[in-house]
Amino acid sequence: MNKLTVKDLPYAYDALEPVISKKIMELHHDKHYAGYVNNFNLALDAGKISSFNYNGAVMHEVFWENMRPAQENNLPPEGMFEDFEKFKAEFSAAAVTVEGSGWAVLWKTEAGLAVGQLEKHNLLGLNGAKPVLVLDVWEHAYYLDYLNDRKSYVENFWKIINWEVVAGRLRS
Ligand SMILES: [Fe+2]
Repeated sequence: MNKLTVKDLPYAYDALEPVISKKIMELHHDKHYAGYVNNFNLALDAGKISSFNYNGAVMHEVFWENMRPAQENNLPPEGMFEDFEKFKAEFSAAAVTVEGSGWAVLWKTEAGLAVGQLEKHNLLGLNGAKPVLVLDVWEHAYYLDYLNDRKSYVENFWKIINWEVVAGRLRS
């Protein structure tokens, strides 16, 4: 396997305010995400593959790219979901109820779209399913802004979803 590199955010650190603060984005990108990349590379130097750090790096890159600055009426393209409100409720519930650290994920599978949860960064055994929209609900993703109110963080996330990126992932 090749070494990973820390990729820049596709926007400024403060671009997601007020939904996610500059401070959180700085810590999240420069410490947590970069930590997964660096620890994966260190393990590789020692002849080991660290799935935890690899998946942590990959999931954060998927996450950065499916966000953008907040927009009013930030809705998916017409027809992406049969019932958007139903999907929104399902995805939000998945995010709010992840136990401990993890992710809410919209998967593209051979059988269609599916909402699920990932505990920590456990991407093993997905049989080719592809994450098209992810939300990080580890405490490091929101605690400085929302304290223990994960529900408000999840509600505000809908303002900053980059639906063009999600639509592109669905097409590819
Ligand atoms: Fe994270």
